[in-house]
Amino acid sequence: MKITVVGAGAVGASCAEYIAIKNFASEVVILDIKEGFAEGKAMDLMQTASLNGFDTKITGTTGDYSKTANSNICVITSGIPRKPGMTREELIGINAGIVKMVSASLIKHSPDTIIIVVSNPMDTMTYLVHKTTDIPKNRIIGMGGALDSARFKYRLAEALEAPISDIDGMVIGGHSDKGMVPLTRLATRNSVPVSQFISDERLAQVLEDTKVGGATLTGLLGTSAWYAPGAAVSGLVQAIACDQKKIFPCSVLLNGEYGLNDLCIGVPVVLGKNGIEKIVEIELNTAEKAHMQESAVGVQKTNGLLEL
Ligand code: LAC
Repeated sequence: MKITVVGAGAVGASCAEYIAIKNFASEVVILDIKEGFAEGKAMDLMQTASLNGFDTKITGTTGDYSKTANSNICVITSGIPRKPGMTREELIGINAGIVKMVSASLIKHSPDTIIIVVSNPMDTMTYLVHKTTDIPKNRIIGMGGALDSARFKYRLAEALEAPISDIDGMVIGGHSDKGMVPLTRLATRNSVPVSQFISDERLAQVLEDTKVGGATLTGLLGTSAWYAPGAAVSGLVQAIACDQKKIFPCSVLLNGEYGLNDLCIGVPVVLGKNGIEKIVEIELNTAEKAHMQESAVGVQKTNGLLEL
């Protein structure tokens, strides 16, 4: 199992590290355009192998896509991250050009690859890969919901004063501060609805804190977060590489599911060796449907900025 990670920045390096630590891939290639940077990150990570107990071989390359040939899964993290005060949507101009070039180069050397898009604005970048390449839709996956759900569970555990392992919950919709649809109604603490443990006001606060999860960290760190994005990507990669058939909310192309068409947005999917094995349609209530619809309008507005 060969995995390529494009972009050796904090998110890309964190993806590579978590993939390696989980020890399911034979090979991880990191590619970056900055001279020597990916090689350096790869070497540093390889020097953790004996300490962290993994056998995954990590190599780096400065822009040589032939080194990524025959990758089973490629992760695109390249592009500029947002700075404090910026929205993910503001990155579109620069990142669209990068994602288009990167996806074409990857597919040239790995025509059967599954692509995971992380670059922001992620839903629109995922849509761009659909529009500008000819690989089937089950092989193009946007990573956002897995991260937003992890942040949701963190906030729920904090509010309930419960261990995170007791908490289950999911965020669907667009990967943007306004677009996220945290499904509080369906969130549970060990099968018991979370609403049984905290007030409506506290739950509303959890919702707000979840939606600005990325922005809060950008404010604290001065740049975009990386540990949780990296861990979320590694979860998707492992589910595909090990054919786990796990459910994650991912940004995928919809053709009528959830009443939506011709856009990529976060919905629950089953991930396995074919990438997206199935889109899971859950029954939303009226408020959730309206929120999802509003989120889709936001994503479509950003998609409209693409020069296709
Ligand atoms: C975040 C970026 C990865 O939410 O979108 O941290």
